[in-house]
Amino acid sequence: MKHETIEKNVNLMAILIVVVISIGGLVEIVPLMASSDANEPYPGIEPYPPVELAGRDVYVREGCYVCHSQQIRPFRSETERYGPYSVAGEFVYDRPFQFGSKRTGPDLARVGGRYSDDWHRLHLLRPQDLVPDSNMPAFPWLADAVVDGELVERKMRALRTLGDPYTDEQIAGAAAAVEGVTELDALVAYLQNLGTARAAR
Ligand code: HEC
Repeated sequence: MKHETIEKNVNLMAILIVVVISIGGLVEIVPLMASSDANEPYPGIEPYPPVELAGRDVYVREGCYVCHSQQIRPFRSETERYGPYSVAGEFVYDRPFQFGSKRTGPDLARVGGRYSDDWHRLHLLRPQDLVPDSNMPAFPWLADAVVDGELVERKMRALRTLGDPYTDEQIAGAAAAVEGVTELDALVAYLQNLGTARAAR
């Protein structure tokens, strides 16, 4: 009899559906917020140093994530190709994370150290010079743009308010660290460190 009342009242039913789904959602999400696996950095994972932080923002701005994922799933087909599968603690300082959802190109979560800096530079300037069949676009303007030190400093301050443990010295030294560094250099520095903490174990 009570059930019939719910079934015949679409508003009541909608409200109750939302309540039930919310409880289901909370049960999944809340424990994760408290879990140290998801919130504590994996050994060796540090907040991004100034040059890599700048490079990471170039990565986001240029939309590299549209073609490249940064998450290796725990399947043999993935770990044989890319290396150890991704764990949550690797991403605690990734705001926003770069998991991506499509692989037009290969996953980049473990690309750090796989090629030389020069390989990356040439590849980003003209991918087809190194991989003739590549359909990755060229990013030649990165070599001419210089990283804005003041902006990097402001970003580090903003990230600190979100909980990234940058020290005052690190923030004060940011502008000097990126002095004269091109966006291309910064992006390569970012790529070269991707996944190295976990790959080293
Ligand atoms: C339109 C899709 C597309 C976009 C956008 C793109 N890539 Fe690629 N990328 C590819 C493809 C396809 C390959 C494989 C062929 C090659 O190596 O060029 C690749 C390969 C790579 C590799 C070599 C990976 C490996 O393990 O061999 C790196 C590093 C890379 N891309 C970085 C970047 C960065 C950084 C950006 C953004 C500045 C970017 N890509 C944007 C498609 C793309």
